[in-house]
Amino acid sequence: MASLSIITGLKARKIFNSRGEETVEVEVKTLGGFGCAAAPSGKSRGKYEVVPFPEGGVEKAVERFESHVKPKILGLDADNQELIDKTLHEVDGTENFGFIGGNLAYAVSLAVAEASASTHHQPLFARFGGVKRLLPVPLGNVLGGGKHAGRGAPDIQEFLVLPFGCKSFSEAYTANTRIHRRLGSLLGEKVLGFTGGKGDEGAWAPPLTNEKALEFVLKVVEEVSGEMGVKVGVGLDVAASSLWNPKKGVYEYVGEGKNRDKGEQLEYILSLIKKFKLVYVEDPFHEDDFESFSELTGKVNKCLICGDDLFVTNREKLSFGVKVKAANSLIIKPNQVGTVTDTYKTIVLAKSSGYVPVMSHRSGETTNTHIAHLAVGFGCPIIKTGVVGGERIAKLNELLRIEETSKGKIPFAKLNL
Ligand code: PGA
Ligand code: ZN
Repeated sequence: MASLSIITGLKARKIFNSRGEETVEVEVKTLGGFGCAAAPSGKSRGKYEVVPFPEGGVEKAVERFESHVKPKILGLDADNQELIDKTLHEVDGTENFGFIGGNLAYAVSLAVAEASASTHHQPLFARFGGVKRLLPVPLGNVLGGGKHAGRGAPDIQEFLVLPFGCKSFSEAYTANTRIHRRLGSLLGEKVLGFTGGKGDEGAWAPPLTNEKALEFVLKVVEEVSGEMGVKVGVGLDVAASSLWNPKKGVYEYVGEGKNRDKGEQLEYILSLIKKFKLVYVEDPFHEDDFESFSELTGKVNKCLICGDDLFVTNREKLSFGVKVKAANSLIIKPNQVGTVTDTYKTIVLAKSSGYVPVMSHRSGETTNTHIAHLAVGFGCPIIKTGVVGGERIAKLNELLRIEETSKGKIPFAKLNL
């Protein structure tokens, strides 16, 4: 009898993400199971990420799915993720998924993983192995600006909260929702012109400077953590590649009317870490400045310095970063590299190098829950997937279900901060 995990059907279609942009969804049927996955999309994308869609967009990707991808994947074994992902690279034939698009690769790769899990009546996270499973700490975006919000919001893209001293995932998720809600009320009371607007990831987008925003966030974090008796730290995603003007060699803080050169940026970030007791700083420098990253990382203690655009989930980039001690943490966005296997290889290197991998959503998301399973299955101690909004809570609520059904068998991650 043929194996139940043989792929017998594939289908791709255009759907829309949380920003109303077009993206691709793929269905995979095996003899005994079914999987379906759609790709998220970034707005502050790193320049070294794989190409999300070929020229011609989602329609071209679906066309190439029909003519090139489907014929090669049909008949393969969904249990053999490595072969599936290798085939996707071969069919594409470029270094950066330029022909089929990284988002199509992502959707096929994840849909196959889900079909395999379904064939074996397993939850998706159980298909990912090789590392110790963990329930991740949720890193939540509560206030934001930059490319994710309109004019008047802070120049820094994300003001984050990290409930690192909680007993369980559910307690940590509760802390984040309370902070988000309380912060909304406080901003409504104190900030003239704030109408309750939110950015792409559900974070409040008030007309504030970076420092004022940090003051409000820290105040609420201290209140809520005191009330709940848990430890919560504040973090930032500076998304500095979006602020960098390469011609002038400065970071442009348009809202504040200030430019900072490389040295001033380092001083500025160090001062924010000190003043607001930051426990997490993502992309404080632009994507080519490994040197400043190393300098900052060498100067901090108990603060995660995380590379997103810097590493783009790419193993080679991470390997260079490890050599020059660029950071101590990295963002994992599977669609920055395109496949489950590429993602896995980067996580393994991160873990063996003492880097904390942070599984992450994109600003344009779908209601899919795959990254919740990837975080658990690949043992990522942190998941960054917002606090509110249907496409964000889809992942967080899925983690509540996993926490409940795993009945204490999957430990909640501990962060040494
Ligand atoms: P994205 O960015 O808009 O590219 O998803 C989110 C982030 O910088 O973490
Ligand atoms: Zn980022």
